[in-house]
This record gives sequence, C-alpha cells and structure tokens, in this order.
Amino acid sequence: MGTKQTAPMVRARKGSGTAVVMVTAYDAPTARVASAAGVDVILVGDSVAMVVLGYEDTLHVTVDDMAHHTAAVARTRPDPLIVADLPWMSYHTGPAEAVHNAAALVRAGAQTVKLEGGRKRLPVIEAVIDAEIPVMGHLGLTPQSFHAMGGFKVQGKELDSAKALVDDAVALADAGCFAIVLEGIPDVVAQLITDSIPVPTIGIGAGVHCDGQVLVFHDVLGFDDRRAPKFVRRYASLQADAIAGLTQWADDVRERRFPGEEETYHLSHGLAEAIAPGPVLAAN
Ligand code: KIV
Repeated sequence: MGTKQTAPMVRARKGSGTAVVMVTAYDAPTARVASAAGVDVILVGDSVAMVVLGYEDTLHVTVDDMAHHTAAVARTRPDPLIVADLPWMSYHTGPAEAVHNAAALVRAGAQTVKLEGGRKRLPVIEAVIDAEIPVMGHLGLTPQSFHAMGGFKVQGKELDSAKALVDDAVALADAGCFAIVLEGIPDVVAQLITDSIPVPTIGIGAGVHCDGQVLVFHDVLGFDDRRAPKFVRRYASLQADAIAGLTQWADDVRERRFPGEEETYHLSHGLAEAIAPGPVLAAN
C-alpha cells in the first residue's frame, strides 16, 4: 500500500518536476493493476462506453453506468485519486442537475469528477466545486462534443481557436479546477496553456510539455483491437496473450488434458469404491 492520493496532492504537483500519471480503469481488476503500478490518478472515463461496453462513442453512457463502474473501482480501495467522468447530458442542462449527478458519482466512490468544456461550463463548474466536489476540467478535442466539432478532430490549430483554448484554461483554473486534461491539441498550444495556469495540465495527444499524461488502460496494454490513435504507445499485448492462453486451454479441454489430477477433487478411497466399483480412484 502506498499513499492515498487526493485532489490537493495532485494540484500541488504543479511545478514539482514530477509528471502526474493518470490512466483509465473501469472495474476492480483494472483498478488493482493501476494501483499496483503506482499511477497517481485513476480516471473512470466515459470511454468505458467504447472500451468496455461496445458503443461507438461516449454519448451512450449514463450517470448510472458511470456510478456502477466507479463503485467497482472504489471497492478495491486503490491508492490513486479516483476521478469519475460526468457523462454527456449529466451537466449540460445546468448547475443543479450537475451537482446532483456529481454527488451520485461521489456516493459511488469517486473523490472528484471531470467534465468537458470551457468558459460556457463555468456556472456548472463553480456549482460543483461549491458543493465541495473537486473538478478536473477537460479541453481541446472533447469527445462529448464530436457531433458539434464535426468529428474527432485536433483542436486549436488556428490562432483564434488556440487563443480561445488558453482563455478557457485560465478561466477554468481561476474557477478552481484542480487539474485540466488537454486532449488532441498541438504541443505548442499545450505548452502555452501549461505555462499560463497554476494547476497541472494532463495531456492526451497534447505533446510532452504537459504536467502529466493520461492514456486509456486498454490502449497502453494492447487489450483492444480498436485502431489506436497516433498518440498511443503500447507497452503490452494483453489481447494477443489472452487469445493465445484461451486457445491453449480450449485445446487442452478438447484433448482431455484439462483438468488434470492436480485440478480435480477426489473421494476417500473406500467411498470411491462404494460409489463406483471398478477402477480404483486415487484418494486426495
Ligand atoms: O474517458 C476518457 O478516457 C477520457 C480520457 C481520454 C481523458 O476522458
């Protein structure tokens, strides 16, 4: 067991020189792996929609879905800070509903929530923070807006949109966000934002100058056959290992090599004889 991470601890990492490491986890096994690997933050991301639940995009998950997955992560009592995504339409209708839904995620075990969007989300962000729930912001390529953006496109590539991102980040930090995810933006823009705000930036497809990095668990570990985006680096091939292992087990079952003696329960010698006279079954 290491030290349980909190939002103020993550906030205090700004300028420490040690990058913040965040990875998604959606259930008990992935949370245990993330915690054992010593990451700082677990994000119960709405990417659960595609990665685990087989949807095409994040718009399909609900607060109940997110609470279900957050609770599974929280039950493992991981050391990393637990951040849960507020899903699409759980905060877009206004501050009251946002606070209500953020509270549902906290009751499920989240320590903080993340929500997407810039200055137009300030009333919601302020209300959630006012309810004593720390908020992580999320700017740039925000997947919940992919219809409005016309697809999953890198953001902030023009002067105006880059400046707007910096202004959004400054406003979110001023409102009290303890960290901000920067997704799918050019590295120079991410660097400018990182240098402009007093809270950590956590990048995904935003270059090396952010204060931390986040990736999706199944992408880093190769447990998926979705086409990995350009910004993913794979460190394992869990899907290939899983297929190889399961194929071998299936062969052993078909060839009657499984189960073996050591995987089998036996009756005591006399009872085995009484039940099935004939070939003597070994007692164990
Ligand atoms: O849901 C998610 O996985 C995310 C990350 C891409 C930051 O929001």
